[in-house]
Amino acid sequence: MDINTKASFSDAVTQREKDNRRLAYSAAIEGITLLENDGAMPVPLGNIALFGAGAAHTIKGGTGSGEVNERHSVGILEGLEKAGYRVTTQKWLADYDEAFQQAERDHAKLVAKRLRRLDFISVINPLPFRYPFGRKITPQDVAESDTDTCLYVIARQSGECYDRDPAKNDYALSEVERENLKTLAAAYEKTILVINTGASMDLAVLDETKGVNAVVFFCQQGCEGGAAFADILSGAATPSGRLSASWAQRYEDIPFGDEYGVVSGRCDEADYKEGLYVGYRYFDSFGVAPRYPFGYGLGYTEFALGEPEVTADKTAVRVRLPVTNTGETYSGKETVQLYASCPAGGLGREYQSLAAFAKTRLLAPGETQTLTLAFDMRDLAAYDEKTARFVLEAGDYVLRLGRHSRDTRPAALLRLAAGVTVSRHQNICPPAPGLKTLEQPGATEAPPPENAKIIPLDPAAFEARTVDYTPPGVSGAPEVRRILATLEARDMVELVVGAGMFGPRPFLNVPGSGGNTTSVLVSKGLSNIVLCDGPAGLRLQKTSAVTKKGAVKMVETQLAAMKNLPKIAKKLLFGNPQKDKLVYQFATAFPVGNALAQTWNTQLLQAVGSAVGREMEEYGVSVWLAPGMNIQRNPLCGRNYEYFSEDPLLSGKLAAAITRGVQSHEGCFVTLKHFACNNQEERRQWSSSNLDERTLREIYLRGFEIALREGRPGCVMSSYNKINGVYAPNSYDLCTKVLRNEWGFDGLVMSDWFSTWARMKLASSALALASGNDLIMPGGKSSKKVILAGLKNGLLRQEDLKRCSANVIKLILASRTQKEFEQTEGATHGI
Ligand code: BGC
Repeated sequence: MDINTKASFSDAVTQREKDNRRLAYSAAIEGITLLENDGAMPVPLGNIALFGAGAAHTIKGGTGSGEVNERHSVGILEGLEKAGYRVTTQKWLADYDEAFQQAERDHAKLVAKRLRRLDFISVINPLPFRYPFGRKITPQDVAESDTDTCLYVIARQSGECYDRDPAKNDYALSEVERENLKTLAAAYEKTILVINTGASMDLAVLDETKGVNAVVFFCQQGCEGGAAFADILSGAATPSGRLSASWAQRYEDIPFGDEYGVVSGRCDEADYKEGLYVGYRYFDSFGVAPRYPFGYGLGYTEFALGEPEVTADKTAVRVRLPVTNTGETYSGKETVQLYASCPAGGLGREYQSLAAFAKTRLLAPGETQTLTLAFDMRDLAAYDEKTARFVLEAGDYVLRLGRHSRDTRPAALLRLAAGVTVSRHQNICPPAPGLKTLEQPGATEAPPPENAKIIPLDPAAFEARTVDYTPPGVSGAPEVRRILATLEARDMVELVVGAGMFGPRPFLNVPGSGGNTTSVLVSKGLSNIVLCDGPAGLRLQKTSAVTKKGAVKMVETQLAAMKNLPKIAKKLLFGNPQKDKLVYQFATAFPVGNALAQTWNTQLLQAVGSAVGREMEEYGVSVWLAPGMNIQRNPLCGRNYEYFSEDPLLSGKLAAAITRGVQSHEGCFVTLKHFACNNQEERRQWSSSNLDERTLREIYLRGFEIALREGRPGCVMSSYNKINGVYAPNSYDLCTKVLRNEWGFDGLVMSDWFSTWARMKLASSALALASGNDLIMPGGKSSKKVILAGLKNGLLRQEDLKRCSANVIKLILASRTQKEFEQTEGATHGI
């Protein structure tokens, strides 16, 4: 055997695993969001009736690259039993278990049938497994349960390549689930509905069902979700989650929802006709009531928000206020949100947008904490496409403070006497002529609130910045240049193309990683570095078999979809645990992105990032392919679970916090993804996100900008889709003008996996390098050919190749792996 790996020979539980599990539990406690409660919760320990698909088969995270292979995940049934509840519906649960296994067998047959057609897409994107709904709940089930309290856990799985089925059986409850909920609500004194999905659901069923006493959005909470849920149910912990996206009353309320790819069947041209009006920006501006607003969530106690003190120092605005737990029994945490309503002026604005937020620590009854919410006025600027400027129009900026987007009161009025320019740009990503977007419904300017404090802002305090669009040259420290000077063109081509997913053996081997940079330059002093998914933890291979020849094979499936691979493929990919040497990697499954966002807790997210960084150090991962920070534009997007929010500010702040956490470990880096407008999974490699420049900048780029500015991530991943007809990795506007010239990013841009695969006629690898996308992942021979051809036919200049190579070298030199490689001269952990 001659592989270098940091995987362990022992499968014993380590202290790191215990620590990170505890953190996963804390994150789940803060992410679980209570949507309704008439006093039914908390529920004292005792007998409890538990039904539903997610009861024992609780979904801890979505499928695809975002999966995490943890040692063990505590589901809701297990969590309840460990906490001391007696679950009295074992018969229904056992029947469900059988139905689940049958559904898995049926699914395997279906997948095999599609695979036999050798249709390439179904090979790389296997059909997702949909959980069965379970049988009808009978009067006998109820009678035997011997309790007055029941939980009904609805579960839906989703993931890469497929969006959620808009038909009733996915986004809304199925017929049998609706009937079951009615049966339960009529039979039990307390009925608690639990939603175990990655993102929102249509809960119209609540309008026609009397007797549902509480609703919990469990989301997908990682490996300790069941334990956290049980503690919230019993009152041992109090819920403090707040929604990071609005829940519509019904799907029809989502603007142009009928045109979303999976609904209309028109996937290749996604026209963002709602423009700026995404999520609460739409609901609040157009007077449509959501079922649950953005920022909403209940707890077990009440809070009073005291008088705010608002100050402005030039462009910096600060709001301070005391928050008091006015309850008598429970401790709790409150999240305070600050929204700004900007003058509509000539450009038109949404009614309000989130400007800042802060969360208290755990406050005991009667306890008070003073929170500070701060933002910079320039971040409220609107983009004027005609002049290519970010501007603040003259008028009153009303600050609204509250608990969610529908529960705010004016805190102050910032008065800007004259309009100001914040920054001057060039126009980017021009849309096809004729794209019409939703316009503001009328004046959003509310009359100045009575008694509101008026704070004048000095227009002279705003200095306009003019962006310099000079193309960036080769950059890097002397050591980078020294190495670069030793490389020939073909070495550089190796460097800017990943080592392939199944290609030559990496020098450092992290089983289950998403990809590696090249190992062919080891003799020139450059180690390969390892890139791993994201975003709910590290996606690694838990147990690996190392054969005598040094091949590393799976022992358990690495992705759920692999369960259905044909026998021949399994033979190739799987090792023999009896014969081969086994090595182990136990990563922690944290709550998914949407669940983490519901904590609204930047410190907690920083801690999660740091915990991931610790695992990266342990196993030798240099780059984490996370956080995912696309905007949740439509609830049907199959990967919403990986993303934070419908709001760019919340997404940006949370991504920055995670980034700071991971990168507090020297030599470990994150990757902000997917840049940009990857808001649909169906035909993601072929679809074009068509949108106006203002929407692109204010909604879809803004979160990335915040995360870059406040987190300084090492990498960004370009997305699969086109933006106004141009593939993301081929967009000079996005990869260079926006990232580098406007935002000053000096890290590495990589492509999403196979997005430039020549055989599929998608983006071009050569044009990607010329556009500022430095690294082609996961790599492969065809990309190298395209790049070499590009050098010949002038699509790509030597200078571009050098610039991209320098960015790759810079990242490798900064990585922990390279440092260890240099110290040990390559003998890291040989087995
Ligand atoms: C996903 C990325 C992921 C990559 C590597 C792609 O299919 O879109 O998010 O990082 O695979 O696994």
